[in-house]
Amino acid sequence: MPKAHIVGTGSSVPRRVLTNFDLETIVDTSDKWITRRTGIVERRICSSAEKEGTADLGAQAALKAMEMAGIAPKDLDMIVVGTVTPDRQFPAAACMIQNQLKAENAFAFDISAGCSGFLYGLSLVNDTIRVGSCKNALVIGAERLSSITNWTDRGTCVLLADGAGAVVVSADTKKGGILSSHIQSDGSLWELLYSSYGNSFVPEILSGLDTKPFYLKMEGNRLFKRAVEYLTAIAEKALKENSLSCEDVALLVPHQANIRIIQAVAKNLNISMEKVFTNVEKYGNTSSASIPIALDEANRQGLLKKDDYLLLIAFGAGLTWASSMIRWSI
Ligand code: COA
Repeated sequence: MPKAHIVGTGSSVPRRVLTNFDLETIVDTSDKWITRRTGIVERRICSSAEKEGTADLGAQAALKAMEMAGIAPKDLDMIVVGTVTPDRQFPAAACMIQNQLKAENAFAFDISAGCSGFLYGLSLVNDTIRVGSCKNALVIGAERLSSITNWTDRGTCVLLADGAGAVVVSADTKKGGILSSHIQSDGSLWELLYSSYGNSFVPEILSGLDTKPFYLKMEGNRLFKRAVEYLTAIAEKALKENSLSCEDVALLVPHQANIRIIQAVAKNLNISMEKVFTNVEKYGNTSSASIPIALDEANRQGLLKKDDYLLLIAFGAGLTWASSMIRWSI
């Protein structure tokens, strides 16, 4: 039976840097508050002056992952994009990316699973490869959260950012690769994080509204507690399924939402922060893109060695949460 191996990683973030000091001029906040409460120092935001949409960022990240993997566009047979901010409601960002890559042999679609979108995609690709229906896949997390950010709401605008990350996953019978995937959701808690309108929920009269109807809304405090609880639980599930302990894990790459969430999860798991990859200080919360961006940085910094156990954990709107245990095989 073939196994699914990550064979290349890539990422792409907008050039424009928005610092906490820049935000001080937009809303009633301070660099001190944002750094202390979130760990975020700066983030990347798409510029309307440049050609930077969700699909553009996703395609750039994909090209870098494909270059590392030595995979040509025609070799791809599946493209999955985790996103809550596709450039258009339809077609899928994945199809726009397929077009940019000229990956004519692939089928392509998006997954909407909040910040867990990338791990949901990885889980699906893992299953598809294992049953022999796919040889080479792209899993991408790509977001332009700035397009749904309420820039007058200091409770959310300091957190959100834009970016994309990608991995190429290939079938191979060699040992290692993706060992387990867990994906979970609880729709009863959807109101903790959502966009107000969209699709069938379009207000009857749009004119006269002084705020964009599709802004992201969040109950930060309640979400924080659920994030810590569910991320801990899904990490423990992955460890148990693979008969591993935190000692065995070389690197934990969690969703980058808030350094305090990450530290609390590390404490619960009794895993040293030295083994936890973080870059939330540079990029903020890029939703689906945060794990593949972090994974690409960790990989390019040489933090992953062949046969290392790597644990990825995500949490997001839905609510959704997910994990993937990987034996690194590059
Ligand atoms: N600057 C300054 N003050 C701010 C602020 C900002 N950007 N945002 C909120 N505040 C204020 C609040 O108004 C509140 O003031 P009050 O005490 O006078 O009412 C105070 O800070 C505390 O607010 P609170 O929401 O309790 O802070 P917190 O410690 O929970 O931190 C978050 C807020 C949003 C950083 C935190 O709840 C969080 O990270 N939640 C999870 C968010 C998340 O990860 N979402 C995505 C999940 S994938």
